[in-house]
Amino acid sequence: MGLMNKHVVLERHSLLLTVCILIVVSIGGIIQMVPLMYMDNTIERVDGMRPYTPLELAGRDIYIREGCYVCHSQMVRPLRDEVERYGHYSLAAESMYDHPFQWGSKRTGPDLARVGGKYSAEWQVDHLTDPRSVVPESIMPPYAFLADKTLKYDGIEDRLKTERLVGVPYTDDMIENAKAHLVAQADPDNLGYDDVDGLIEAYTEASGREGTVETRDYDGDPSRITEMDALVAYLQMTGTLVDFSTYQAGDLNNSR
Ligand code: HEC
Repeated sequence: MGLMNKHVVLERHSLLLTVCILIVVSIGGIIQMVPLMYMDNTIERVDGMRPYTPLELAGRDIYIREGCYVCHSQMVRPLRDEVERYGHYSLAAESMYDHPFQWGSKRTGPDLARVGGKYSAEWQVDHLTDPRSVVPESIMPPYAFLADKTLKYDGIEDRLKTERLVGVPYTDDMIENAKAHLVAQADPDNLGYDDVDGLIEAYTEASGREGTVETRDYDGDPSRITEMDALVAYLQMTGTLVDFSTYQAGDLNNSR
């Protein structure tokens, strides 16, 4: 009874109650947050991860702008049916350079976390142009206009700088050459302006693994770089950076 009586004091004084609530909630918050500050990294590093190339990053921005996440998730859960359908479950490290991440919670269409390389670039372009031309029962809306829109990439250096500000390890070289790298990836045969070797070198070094950078015209029109080029470049690399033929989940294996 004694405790109940004391509680009356709190319930009659809303300001006192508010202060006490704040104290209790802060204790909970501190217990959650302080350990994180003493950990070097909360995400286990995994070989192969690298920042997005400028073209892929531009494509990802279009993915977000068009609201693809409204119908598509990007997280394969560690459940048998998902792993059998989509491939290896998603690792936290695979979203370490994603700002914002695209995990999503709604699947009107399939999960896209491992869609990279599942189809050809031509299929992706056909599908985005007219989904029902390749999947007759599809209810996905068409995005044909992306092939008519020239990609705007004037601000791509700043875009990379912004990512670096939130922790993505873009080097000075990557930022300085962002435009040349973007053009090089979408139009590797253009001998006037591009920097194909520089692009491949910089991003292969960041990844630590050969073959993670694809350079090609994606939309079937090499004469210009469109939003379709960027989006398909992004889709085709999604979920392909980690080599799962050699990947070993550290903690899971060690605890056996
Ligand atoms: C209204 C919901 C909806 C939206 C918005 C949407 N999609 Fe889809 N998407 C679907 C459905 C449903 C399917 C399955 C049928 C098909 O393959 O067309 C699909 C399939 C796909 C596939 C093939 C996946 C696979 O594994 O077979 C890709 C790739 C894809 N969508 C990309 C995109 C992109 C990129 C965007 C944004 C530009 C987008 N979708 C927007 C509903 C949507």
